[in-house]
Amino acid sequence: MSETENQVDPYLDYAQARRESPVARVGEGRWQIARHSDVNQVLRDNRTFSSDVSLRPAEERQTPGMLFSDPPVHNRLRKLVSRAFKPSHIEAQRPLISAQCTQLIDAMKAQPRLDLVTALAAPLPVTVIAHMLGVQDGDILLFKRWSDAIFSNIGDILFATPSPEAEQAGAEMDTYFIDRIEELRRNPINHLLGRLVETETDEGMLSNAELLSFCRLLLIAGNETTTGLITASVRIFDEFPETLAQLKQDPKLIPTFIEEALRFYSPFSATIRRTTCDTEIAGIKIPKGHLVMPMMASANRDESVFDQADQFLIDRDPNPHLAFGFGIHFCLGAHLARLEGEIAVAALSKNFRTIKLIEKDRSGMSNLGGPSELQVFLEPV
Ligand code: HEM
Repeated sequence: MSETENQVDPYLDYAQARRESPVARVGEGRWQIARHSDVNQVLRDNRTFSSDVSLRPAEERQTPGMLFSDPPVHNRLRKLVSRAFKPSHIEAQRPLISAQCTQLIDAMKAQPRLDLVTALAAPLPVTVIAHMLGVQDGDILLFKRWSDAIFSNIGDILFATPSPEAEQAGAEMDTYFIDRIEELRRNPINHLLGRLVETETDEGMLSNAELLSFCRLLLIAGNETTTGLITASVRIFDEFPETLAQLKQDPKLIPTFIEEALRFYSPFSATIRRTTCDTEIAGIKIPKGHLVMPMMASANRDESVFDQADQFLIDRDPNPHLAFGFGIHFCLGAHLARLEGEIAVAALSKNFRTIKLIEKDRSGMSNLGGPSELQVFLEPV
C-alpha cells in the first residue's frame, strides 16, 4: 500500500488508537473510544451514556426519534415499532428484495465497469424501505432525493441549524407521509407503515409526529448502512478473491460471510452518547455533559477479542462484533439488513466470475455507510 493510501486508511488510525490512546480526548468535551470492552461498556450503560445528545433548544427540536432518546421515551417507541419488525414480517419481504435485486443485477451484466453504489448498493435498500413505507413506484426517485438531502445533513440536524435544502426536503417528505398516514387511517394496508399506524399497545398508539419521526429515522438508520454492507462485501471480494469462489461453491457460507463483513468493514462505524454524570472509562475520568464516541469499527478489529482480527475468516464463529450496536438501541433493522445483505451477496456470487475494484481508495470507509462511489470491474459467469 502506498504512503498516500496509508494516510487515509481509517483502519490504521483505529489500530493506533487501540494501542496508544484507547480513550482519547479529541476536542473540547469530545472523546473517542477504541477498544471492544470500552465500546461495549458505553453502549450497555444507557444511564451514564445518554442518547439524547442534541444541544438544540427543546422548542427547536422535532419529536425525538428512538435512536436519540432514553427511557422511558425510548421504551415506549421501541415497544410500539418492534411488532412491525418481527422476523416473520421481515422474512415476508424476501420475494420483493430478491426480485428487485435480480432486476438490478441483470442491468449490471451489460456493463463491465460501473459504480456499484449507483447500480446496486444504494437503490436496493432505498427501494425496499420505500415499499415497506408504501411509497408508490412513481415516487421512489423523489423519496431517494429526500433521503439523500436529510442524510447528508444529519450532523447539522442534530447539533446545529440544518441547511435550507435539508429543511425543505424534510418538509416535503412530512407532507407526503402525512397524506399517506391519513389515507391509511381510512383504508388500512398491511405494509410496515400500515402496521405502525394501526399498532396499539398498553403504551397507546403512535402520534402522527412520532410516525413521521420514525419514517425519517428509517431513512437515516436503514439506507446508507445497508448500502455500506453491500460495498463492504464487494471490497472483500476484491481483497480476498478466494471468498467469491468459496461462496460460489458453498452458498451456505453466506450468513457467516455477512457477519464477518459486518465486523471487518462495519458500515455504522461509530455512534455518539452524552455523559449524564462524571464517570470513568478504562481509568480515564470523563466529566458530566461530554460527548463520547464509541467506535464500533475499531472495536470490531480488537486483537484481544478476535483471533487474527485483521484477517477475513469467512466462517468465523463465534463473532461477537458490535456492528449493530449493543443494549437498548441494538439495531431494530438487523434482520432486514442481514436479509438484504445475504440476497445481494448471493446474487453477486452467483452471477459474476470476477469482481475487482478499479480504484483502491479507502478514504470514505469511516463514513457512515462507507464510500459514496465504488468503481468496479465485473466479469459475468
Ligand atoms: C448493515 C446495515 C445496518 C447497520 C450496520 C446498522 C447499525 C445500527 C446500529 C449500530 C444501531 C445502534 C446505534 C446506537 O446505539 O447509537 C442501529 C440502530 C437502529 N437501526 Fe440499524 N443498522 C443497519 C440497518 C438498518 C435497517 C435496514 C433498518 C430499518 C429499516 C435499521 C433501523 C434501525 C433503527 C430504527 C435503530 C434505532 C434503534 C433504537 O434506538 O432502539 N437499521 N443500527
